[in-house]
Parts: sequence; C-alpha cells; structure tokens
Amino acid sequence: MQLPELIKTADTQLLTVTQRQNVVMQSGSGVRMKDTEGNEYLDFVGGWAVTCLGHSPKIIVDALTEQANKLVNSSPSYYNLPMLEYTKLLVDNTCLDRVFFASSGAEANEGAIKLARKYGQKQKDGAYEIITTTNAFHGRTLTTMSATGKAIWKDLYEPKTKGFKQAEFNNLDSVRALVNKNTVAIMLEPVQGEGGVNVATQEFMQGLRDLCDQENILLILDEVQTGFGRTGKLFGYQHFDVEPDIMTLAKGIGGGFPLSALMAKEFLNIFEAGDQGATYSSQPLAMAVGKAVLQELLDENISAHSELMGEYLHQSLNELSKDYAIDNIRGHGLLIAFDVGSDIAGHISKQCFSDGLLINACKSYSLRLMPPLIISKSEIDEMLAIVRQYLTPINYNAV
Ligand SMILES: Cc1ncc(COP(=O)(O)O)c(C=O)c1O
Repeated sequence: MQLPELIKTADTQLLTVTQRQNVVMQSGSGVRMKDTEGNEYLDFVGGWAVTCLGHSPKIIVDALTEQANKLVNSSPSYYNLPMLEYTKLLVDNTCLDRVFFASSGAEANEGAIKLARKYGQKQKDGAYEIITTTNAFHGRTLTTMSATGKAIWKDLYEPKTKGFKQAEFNNLDSVRALVNKNTVAIMLEPVQGEGGVNVATQEFMQGLRDLCDQENILLILDEVQTGFGRTGKLFGYQHFDVEPDIMTLAKGIGGGFPLSALMAKEFLNIFEAGDQGATYSSQPLAMAVGKAVLQELLDENISAHSELMGEYLHQSLNELSKDYAIDNIRGHGLLIAFDVGSDIAGHISKQCFSDGLLINACKSYSLRLMPPLIISKSEIDEMLAIVRQYLTPINYNAV
C-alpha cells in the first residue's frame, strides 16, 4: 500500500482523538524532524515540551541499545541495575526523598492524588479534598481530568471524581477561602503550560507554602512540563525557593521515551504494598534512558543554556514587538508564550507549518515556544524570521 492509502486506512481504524496534519514524520536529529517526502521542520513544539535533548540524540539511542541488548523487561517484582543507579541520581538532584516511577504525566499525577488521600486517611481524619487552580492541566485520566477542571470538560465523562475545588491561579485569598477541615492538598503547576504559560508569582508560591505549613496541608507541584531544565532551572520550584511535599515529573524526564515519576518527602513514604504499582514501573529501558538524560542535563548544564536561550527569546520578541502586534511575552527558560494581537495564532501556526516550522497556538491569540533545550541563537533567529511574516505590523501612522 502507498502512504496516502495507508493514512486513509489508519483514519478509518484509529479512534478519532485529535486532528493530525497530513504528514508522516520519519526521522529527526537535533532540533529538526523530516517527513517521508524529505521536508524538514524546525521544531519549536519539541514533542510537546518533551524532547529536551533534541530528536533521537545519541545519548538516548546508546542507552536504549545497550540496555536492550542486556534486558528489555524484568518485572516490578525485582530490582534491575539501571533502576538502582537512576533512583539515586534522581533523588540526589531534587529536594524529595522517595520516588515511584510510572510511564505518563497523568499516571504520576493520579499517584500524587492517591498519596495525598492516603495521608488524609492516616494523618488528617480522612481529609480528601484537593484544591487546584483555574487554567490548570493535570492529565486525561478521569481523576486528573476532574482535578484539571477545564470548563470545556465540564459535562464530559460524568460523574467526575469528587473532591476537587478550584481556586484562582495567583490569588492566595481564593485558595484560603476554600481551605476547610477536609482539605488535604493544594496542587498546581509552577508555570502553567497548557493553560497558556502562566507563571506563578513568588508571593503566591511562598504564600501557598506557608498556608500548607500552618494548616498541615500538602503542597503538590505538577512539574510534568516544567521539570528537567524546561524553565531554565532543573526544576520549576527552584525559581521560588519553595519546596513541594510531592512533585510529579514526565515529558523531559525521558527525552521522548515514555517515563514519569511521582516524588515525595520521606514523611510521605506511606503507601502499603499493593496501594500503588504499574507493570512498567521502573522498567529497565526507561530507567536506562532516564539516567542518561539526567546525567547529560547535569554534565552539560543544559538548564543554564535553557535560561540563556530563554533570555535571548524574550529580548528578540521584545525587539519585534516594536514593529509588530506582540505583547504579554511570558514564561521562563524555554517555555515561553506571547500574544499576537488578535485571534490569528492558529492561522500563523498553519502558515509556519507550510514554511517548515512547528509552532503551537496555545490559545486563539497566543503562540507557545517549547523547543528542544539544545536550541541555538541562530535557530531562534530562523524561527522568528518565519513567524514575523505572519504577524500584524504596527501602523504608527494610523491613530
Ligand atoms: C502540567 C501537565 N501535567 C500533566 C500532563 C499530562 O501528561 P501526560 O500527557 O504524559 O499524561 C501534562 C501534559 O501536557 C502537563 O502539561
């Protein structure tokens, strides 16, 4: 069968969950991907903030092949070598003491919610409510969708999991107003990714930490998108000097290999055997990749590079905003968004695709940048030169 026919057939056989571009990606290297027609794409989506080291980096290929030649899969019932090495490396580089490995962000968050509820049962007279924030995104299992509380999901898959209340992001009073004897945790992203790149303020984060300490409430940080150098520090919490009790990680953790982690402070080592688990927890291939990715991020100080490139992006966008309708440039490191003056972000994203640039319209009026963390200044310039063609020029003569 020819490719167009194969695509047509797949469209009749895959469950419809998303609209795909009519293109088949075949290979990738650095910050670029190639389709089966040989067209090249400069990638500012990065597999949705995943491919922190770029496409098919040697480090991941080597880790995978070396481990695959030894042992692809053991079982969560046994230790495996990369698991032992990686666990230590990860724990030693965070403020958390314990880790449970899983495969996706939603699964890690589901585990975080269960861990908080377990704490409520054991230490807080059965408290179970978790306060989340407006514009949050925590995943697509039924419970993480319930935690997310997106308006467009309101009537979907009813009845939802009970026990979530939503406060306003960056509004400490609105959180305080929801705290009651049933509250066991507050859960948020330090920089909201899917919500349009909204950065928590220092005051909000510190206020939440203080509130949690005063009321014996757990602070859960969803760092699925912000972890592993994405925001210019290894973890988002490091921007605020505020430590979470529970942290969840995915996306960049495996550089493209499915891996996630639920991390917690020592006092939360309270699961009993059987409370939590997964067939692929601590899977050897995932552990080997996770270790290789983190080691590379540390050895090459890629967080610092992400911070530098983020600053360059901010400067370049500020410069561009003198001539084009760009404002509300926001974000840290290489998780950045900006508004384009009107509802043309989707149109810009499509035009850029035709020009060989992958860029996400995170809102009808905002573009989001989340490229591999190894991006260079010249590749940023290349992206801006493409985007600029579709921005609205400021007409200084028209008043
Ligand atoms: C902050 C955050 N949490 C959770 C998730 C869900 O992760 P996954 O798609 O790996 O389940 C995402 C995905 O975009 C995310 O950005």
